[in-house]
Amino acid sequence: MPKIELKKTELVWPGKYNEDGTLKEVPRVNLPFQVIETINESRATREGKKGKSLSLFDIYQGKEGDTFEEGWRNKLIWGDNLLVMGSLLEKFAGKIDLIYIDPPFATGADFRVKLKVGEEGIRAAKMGEKADIEKIASAIEEKVYRDTWGKGLTSYFGMLTERLFLARDLLSENGSLFLHLDPTVSHYAKIVLDEIFGIDNFKNEIAWCYKERERVLNFYNPKHDVILFYSKSASNNRPFNWREACEEFSEVTKSKFRYVDEKGHYQIRGTNKQGSPIRAADGLTPEHEKKYPGLTYRDYLEIRPGVAPRDWWTIPIINKAADERLDYATQKPEALLQRIIQVSSMEGDLVLDFFCGSGTTPAVAEKLGRRWIGCDLSRWAIHVTRKRLLGVENCKPFEVLNLGKYERKYWIGVTFGGKKKDEQQVVVFQYIAFMLKLYSAEPLTGMQHLHGKKGRGLVHVGAVDAPVTIDEVNACIEECLAVGQKELHVLGWEWEMGMTPYIVQEAKRRGVKLLLVTIPREVMEQQAVDKGDILFFEVAHLEVDIKADKGRKMTVSLKDFAFPYADMIPEDVRDKIKKWSDYIDYWAIDWDFQNDTFMNGWVAYRTRKERKLSLKSDIHTYEKPGKYTIMVKAVDIFGNDTSQTFEVEVK
Ligand SMILES: C[S@@+](CC[C@H](N)C(=O)[O-])C[C@H]1O[C@@H](n2cnc3c(N)ncnc32)[C@H](O)[C@@H]1O
Repeated sequence: MPKIELKKTELVWPGKYNEDGTLKEVPRVNLPFQVIETINESRATREGKKGKSLSLFDIYQGKEGDTFEEGWRNKLIWGDNLLVMGSLLEKFAGKIDLIYIDPPFATGADFRVKLKVGEEGIRAAKMGEKADIEKIASAIEEKVYRDTWGKGLTSYFGMLTERLFLARDLLSENGSLFLHLDPTVSHYAKIVLDEIFGIDNFKNEIAWCYKERERVLNFYNPKHDVILFYSKSASNNRPFNWREACEEFSEVTKSKFRYVDEKGHYQIRGTNKQGSPIRAADGLTPEHEKKYPGLTYRDYLEIRPGVAPRDWWTIPIINKAADERLDYATQKPEALLQRIIQVSSMEGDLVLDFFCGSGTTPAVAEKLGRRWIGCDLSRWAIHVTRKRLLGVENCKPFEVLNLGKYERKYWIGVTFGGKKKDEQQVVVFQYIAFMLKLYSAEPLTGMQHLHGKKGRGLVHVGAVDAPVTIDEVNACIEECLAVGQKELHVLGWEWEMGMTPYIVQEAKRRGVKLLLVTIPREVMEQQAVDKGDILFFEVAHLEVDIKADKGRKMTVSLKDFAFPYADMIPEDVRDKIKKWSDYIDYWAIDWDFQNDTFMNGWVAYRTRKERKLSLKSDIHTYEKPGKYTIMVKAVDIFGNDTSQTFEVEVK
């Protein structure tokens, strides 16, 4: 038995301590970020800043400023928050002013994402028919909540504690943490937080109370969540703008201010001067004023900010018709975040939510003039948040980042070992074997580029840390032809620009049916792998019409979208889908793509209420003639990105 020396009261779970009784260390992985998209910023502005400092991994050079004027851009980061927070430490340790997190609760359930298709769904709903066309088949749902409950509370607290340690290190001395849970786990979390933040830094256990249909009849209906509020330190400079959260006085209280003069409503009170017969009495009358001049005063209602905030809040959950509703199962009301952010941070402060889901924290922080960083593991969450922010009036520039190939390299290192040079070959073999197994392919030996066989197809597995190149696919095509095979599947994480549809057509011309298959990020999630949730999808394909007009004007229209996952959609729903465009949820254009970050120059997307999607862009006017690369990015109804580049000449 390991010898654990407990020196104080604490919560212990299997795995918290090492065999030798020492506390398990939190992995602090420092990986560089990749900026994959910049939104609401012109290329000219970005280029201007670039002169000063930027590279693709600019934030790691620590040169980005702390204000928008200095070059700060809000950040939406796609990835596992453990790696993301570890990687943020280098630049942001002690710099975050407020953290709110709402991790998945102890449900153990896989929440299904409600997806909508095209314009049809909304029409059906409007006509009062059976809801809109929601794609909720088990085969296609994105299982965003899968990870934490493999071993119940043990894995939950293992997961949460690591992140809370990192959260503490990211917080500034005046910073505050809000951890949102439900009463099934909040009591455990409080003990963990006492340990990490110190019991003296516990500020409140806030009960967020709401009304919903009461269904339970054999115990009390659980109608509140718990939000634990801790400060980083005992600092006296921690913002607490309590006036922002004052509540209106009750009618009973208001009725006490029964007199009115030109300054407002007032009650008459005694000044409590020494020897006064009326002392500090309240509820006095004008007669008292006359009788005791100098010993009374008028206490006005209007100068009071309201009832000082309490630790229980009644804020309604988002109703079905609410404008802010996004159909994200666990979306929290903006009013809740508004209170937290307004009270516990100042304008310009930096707010972090590393379980940001549908982006409630980033959206509210944006509206309140705070800087923000949001992170989520789910592709769909990142997509929903991006759209949500685009809908915020005057949303400042923000960027979408990930850890890209660095996260994947870290993953193969952790999964297959191989830090030493001579082990690296073995790791590559193990990685390929793992991928082939997930893809249900048999390993092949004796070939140079082809690694496996699936049905009639030969399979090539692309490297973990580089995009699959045209040359690489060409080499595979050669090898296929050399052994007389006519079908090739290439699995890749990323693809060289300009590869599709060119390479597929080229393969066809040479007599080979080529399938380009994207390796989903979920392969890095052990539980998804164990549960057999991994789905491989073919790369989608876009057709566009680009129209150049006099005066250096350009318009792009979408003409077709080859959606490779239609089979995943239940038949009854598929039957209702009439147009290829129904599969597109969002599309955007970078008018001058320069092989770095996608700059969102024009965008169209569907929202819950506005289902129509324009398939023709606005006119873009180029400042100078010349050759340009236009990149068109489409996001389908499952949140998958498809990007294609097109060369144009502006005269
Ligand atoms: C309860 S939801 C947050 C909802 C959010 N507060 C809102 O208003 O939309 C929890 C989120 O945590 C994300 N998540 C779960 N594990 C994660 C991880 N390891 N890293 C990053 N995000 C994770 C899920 O994808 C999900 O979107």
